[in-house]
Amino acid sequence: MALSSKIIGVGSFVPEKVFTNHDLEKMMNTSDEWIQQRTGIVERRWVDKNVGTSDLAVKASEEAIANAGLDKSDVDMIIFATLSPDHDFPGSGCFLQAKLGIPEIPALDIRQQCTGFIYAMSIADKFIKSGSHKNILVVGAEVHSKGLDRTPEGRNVGVLFGDGAGAVIMSATEVSDAKTEGHFIDAHLHADGSYAKELWLPGPGTGFDSENRFDAAMFEEGLHYPQMNGKVVFVHAVKRMIESLTNLCKEQGVTIDDIDLFLFHQANLRINSKIAEVMNIPEEKVFNTIQKYGNTTAATIPLGMHDAVKAGKLKPGMLVASAAFGSGFTWASALYRF
Ligand code: ACO
Repeated sequence: MALSSKIIGVGSFVPEKVFTNHDLEKMMNTSDEWIQQRTGIVERRWVDKNVGTSDLAVKASEEAIANAGLDKSDVDMIIFATLSPDHDFPGSGCFLQAKLGIPEIPALDIRQQCTGFIYAMSIADKFIKSGSHKNILVVGAEVHSKGLDRTPEGRNVGVLFGDGAGAVIMSATEVSDAKTEGHFIDAHLHADGSYAKELWLPGPGTGFDSENRFDAAMFEEGLHYPQMNGKVVFVHAVKRMIESLTNLCKEQGVTIDDIDLFLFHQANLRINSKIAEVMNIPEEKVFNTIQKYGNTTAATIPLGMHDAVKAGKLKPGMLVASAAFGSGFTWASALYRF
């Protein structure tokens, strides 16, 4: 018997309001055809003005806790992955903790962007394997819409991102048969900060040659909106997700045939198709959600996980592979038996 961690409950939440590509045609100089051809996105959800990131996270978390068959008071740690926190500080994990009404347990925010959820699961797994914690709430949530330039100038990034939240409960478990029993097997985590400015949000920040974190010029230049070199991101995403997952599978003695479901990050449908083609993954084993949510960054993998459960595509005992790539650059892969 070995102490391990296991996903015992999944939840998700997306805002009610749907924005189709046709809705975006009215805001930006774009077209449904361009967006679908280049990205696969058909629609995305954006919040109302009175909703923040931890509000989405609360709903996803409550569902994950209920689906795990736990009470809120059983949760002994929160790990919150987001690049769009409610406020610069404190972290959204603290806001979520207060909204859930579970004071005093640790609340850790992590900032690994689209790779955030895999980093978060890996951190939770290590805390559980150390024996210090038993039931960790791992959340990925984003409100991108409030940070996007939704005018004609912002079309290159503005059409890509959606809002949403997903959460899982990772719980301590004793595993006697690793080939059949649900548990988190392992993750490989990576970063290369030399590419930080290929996909980033420059302002506000202390990185400017200025006495202040923000000034009028920063807003005039639009440096408070995300900047992206889409082509560079695309090429590195395909290369790194394949490399990381291939190495992890090799290390674990797992083949593509052994894996029942692939839950990849959803930045672009063409990225995932390319990965499936290169790795010889049958299309029906890749669960994509970008068509209806766009890129929801740290929320993407748990949101997809919950949709896969609801669609009957992800069942207990299945071997799942995840891989993600995002700003940083950061990238990661994970193998877990559900
Ligand atoms: N609608 C219509 N036209 C557009 C739009 C739009 N929304 N955006 C850009 N264009 C135009 C450009 O202006 C350009 O026009 P031009 O040829 O007259 O100059 C043309 O379309 C082609 O633009 P490119 O940027 O070269 O388009 P590309 O084929 O590279 O596709 C895309 C862009 C979809 C962004 C692609 O590069 C991509 O998906 N990259 C990966 C992005 C990604 O993964 N980002 C998120 C990372 S996740 C994270 O960590 C947050």
